[in-house]
Amino acid sequence: MSDQQLNGSGIHDGQWYVVAFRNTLRPGHTLLKTIADQEIVFWRSQDGVHVQAASAVCPHWGGPLGEGAVAADGALTCPWHGWQFHGGRCRQRTGLKLPRYLAYDDGLLLWVRLPWNVEDVNEPPCQARPTGVRSFWFDVLIESDVYHVQENYLDFLHPAEYHTTVFNHCVHLGKEGDVNLVELGYRLPFRRTMMTRTRVWAPTPYQIRNEVYEGLGAGMVIESHLTPLAADRTLIHELYHVPARLAPRWIWPVARYFMQRSARTIRAEDALFAQRRYLLRSRGFVDGRGLPVNGRVAPYLDEWPESVDAKVAQQKLSRLMGKKAPSHY
Ligand code: FES
Ligand SMILES: [Fe+2]
Repeated sequence: MSDQQLNGSGIHDGQWYVVAFRNTLRPGHTLLKTIADQEIVFWRSQDGVHVQAASAVCPHWGGPLGEGAVAADGALTCPWHGWQFHGGRCRQRTGLKLPRYLAYDDGLLLWVRLPWNVEDVNEPPCQARPTGVRSFWFDVLIESDVYHVQENYLDFLHPAEYHTTVFNHCVHLGKEGDVNLVELGYRLPFRRTMMTRTRVWAPTPYQIRNEVYEGLGAGMVIESHLTPLAADRTLIHELYHVPARLAPRWIWPVARYFMQRSARTIRAEDALFAQRRYLLRSRGFVDGRGLPVNGRVAPYLDEWPESVDAKVAQQKLSRLMGKKAPSHY
């Protein structure tokens, strides 16, 4: 289902996505990414200041512009015939256009806006970053659509039951508008628990924000960005900002190691959760009713794609794209 629904639905028009951590694109280099099924090349000027983005398919014969060279004036050279592209035009064949995208470097993350209408400029919905913090970050690939990844972040019934090596307590305390107030207990040795309270919400259908306001790690902020690589593949970029007063320089490498380890454990478990939700939904699963659907036993997987129920399930899934998931508690 991926190609047509992502590209044909129009939900990506004007949408900004996080592409990568900014340090993966060095001055004078290119970076190739596939976002929403589109091959996009990013390149940074040799002085490191400007980032540009365009289709990675050379309009001439389709050369791989992701392997192109960055010239001193910021032009991108195709590796196949050496034609150069600058400002969306080819220098050797001026009638030849290269579709461009808007790109943005926010200091930690690299963003792109789809599709490539660069005339109408706006900025991505960056999350506010606290000052006086130490930060670490990592990314995780999940075989699920964005909606079910976000839904998993906003399901507050599962952490204590499911992430049992990290948590042993989770209570939804209430809501302030869209913001969930959540109490979490970190599991310690000898059946002890370390409590923390956090505000969790979805600023956009492609983000989650977590602000710890009480207890362990108070002042910490976690920003999560969900990028649809395809309809059924999502890349999460997660950034942790820890107040420097909580993690003095001498202890930071150790603290970061343990924090990152438990964060990765949680995300790996959540990946399985979101993958299963997406797979079941795409086979017609209905919350609270499950499979089979409408009194019929769902066909086996090889018959399923051709069935009427499969088409209905796909329509339902496509309607979730670009929507914020509700919280569950
Ligand atoms: S394919 Fe790019 S210049 Fe020919
Ligand atoms: Fe989780």
